[in-house]
Amino acid sequence: MSDFRVTRRTFLKGAGTAAAASTLPLSVVELAFADPAQSFTFAHISDSHIQQISGAKFVRNWDRGLIRAVAETNLLQPKPDFVIFGGDLGQLGKKAELDHGAEMLAKLNYPTHCVLGEHDYYLDLGEYWSTLYGPHYHSWDHKGVHFVILNSILTDPKWTYERWPSAEQRMMEMAGLDNPNGSPFMVGEKQREWLRKDLSQVKKETPIVIFSHSPLQKIYKGWNFWTDDAEQVQALLKPFDKVNVIYGHVHQIQYNQIGNISFNAVMATAWPWPYPQSYAQAKQMLPKLTVPMNRADPFFERDATGWQFIDVDTGRVALEYNLYNNTNRKVAFDPKTGQPEDTVFQSEAARIAPQTHY
Ligand SMILES: [Fe+2]
Ligand SMILES: [Fe+2]
Repeated sequence: MSDFRVTRRTFLKGAGTAAAASTLPLSVVELAFADPAQSFTFAHISDSHIQQISGAKFVRNWDRGLIRAVAETNLLQPKPDFVIFGGDLGQLGKKAELDHGAEMLAKLNYPTHCVLGEHDYYLDLGEYWSTLYGPHYHSWDHKGVHFVILNSILTDPKWTYERWPSAEQRMMEMAGLDNPNGSPFMVGEKQREWLRKDLSQVKKETPIVIFSHSPLQKIYKGWNFWTDDAEQVQALLKPFDKVNVIYGHVHQIQYNQIGNISFNAVMATAWPWPYPQSYAQAKQMLPKLTVPMNRADPFFERDATGWQFIDVDTGRVALEYNLYNNTNRKVAFDPKTGQPEDTVFQSEAARIAPQTHY
């Protein structure tokens, strides 16, 4: 993390205290933004899985996770320029779930971009979601950084359109973690072609941040911690100097470096998934760089859940994980090693005590 960021934070804090934001000397701002990738932060909330029980009754715990993330994001200083929601807003893609989740997200004080998760998609193939959040994939530029949202949770058309007698069953089949009837995620040819065209307008030295729901790398197929055409998407990103992929879906901290591309996963606000390495029945490829989070119990309802804010001051992302019931973590790109590094390593010796089960 550069000294510059600390300076800017301190400065803004002081300016805020003096209520002098409107009289910021422009020259200072210009000096501060001398870096080609102008410094800014954004926040990322993901995987809230808002679930309807019946009527106006929803699973309270999932609601509370999202409400808390929104409230804390609104209190951030400095304020993020925007917020990303990383997908799986609802649990079974129902209108009631998406509406209830959207109502909570609408309380954010910042512009918000949403990524489509499989739980939002497989009931009506993203139709209602689109009325709330627009196209399934798009890109924009912000302060010298090119941002892209992809829909990475598509799958084989035969599976999507022919295999299931009802949309509800299709949704249920895709909603399980280890359901063998699930189908591998993919970005698909049409969207890869769109991405190729989109990136043809971007300069090689422009930092790129891609948001996907599933990892754009292959980690564990059995749980769909996997995107089938990941290598083809990575090939499109290869010509660029600084590429960052931020993904949800895995409900845990993961980080990796493949060539020029840094990968970072974000937390869920709903529940944690175990690390695939804890489940040795099939080959898994948890990235070597990933230091699993020291946590008491992967199914402790609030351990390993939370949200994160992200700095883009070097054109590489640094993720600061705000964890509800665990030590906060920070994973930042280290220019010396050329890869993301956990800067708050949790010692095995200081393991969190297991919770008591009742
Ligand atoms: Fe999820
Ligand atoms: Fe997901």
